Amino acid sequence: MRKVAIFGSGTGSNFEKIADHPLLKKEISIDLVICDKVGAAVIEKAESRGIKTFVFSAKDYQDKVSYEKDILERVKDCQYIFLAGYMRIISPYFLNNYKGIILNLHPSLLPKYKGKDAIKQAFDNKEKEIGISIHYVNEELDGGDVIAQDKLKVLEEDTLESVTERIHKLEHKLYPETILKIITAN
Ligand code: GRF
Repeated sequence: MRKVAIFGSGTGSNFEKIADHPLLKKEISIDLVICDKVGAAVIEKAESRGIKTFVFSAKDYQDKVSYEKDILERVKDCQYIFLAGYMRIISPYFLNNYKGIILNLHPSLLPKYKGKDAIKQAFDNKEKEIGISIHYVNEELDGGDVIAQDKLKVLEEDTLESVTERIHKLEHKLYPETILKIITAN
């Protein structure tokens, strides 16, 4: 069993798909969920599965390094960190001090549309195909090596909402599958 931590800030639908994946369940033990938003749905989803959570508010700390030190102490025994809707940038300090592998899920076909509101950016730009990427995390925002991607065709009748829903479906399938591949290869 590999010990992992999942970082999230929102609804936690990707967390759920990772936590409940039948094959992944045999390979990983989710030690901890880290969340920077008090009241985020991901917290309840973790607790209802008996998974420990660490919920923090950045404003309670002097600076980013202070809260990252706190997080590092809690995840130092985890071999992997999976970012799933975590809305904070991981600093070079954290990357230099964490010994495991960090993966992120980003809703665009990287290197296109890095950063916030990636689905909206692609949709507003009238892309014919939009998609998702799973990548290693490095010091550049959404900039680490891409491991896997999937995409869909934007239909004439699509709205931002319908495309977003379909993008989430791709994420829910590809992220657990990619995690499984990565951990069984390492
Ligand atoms: C996903 O769309 C992911 O690509 C982005 O944040 C969203 C998280 O959703 N980074 P959820 O919290 O997993 O439901």
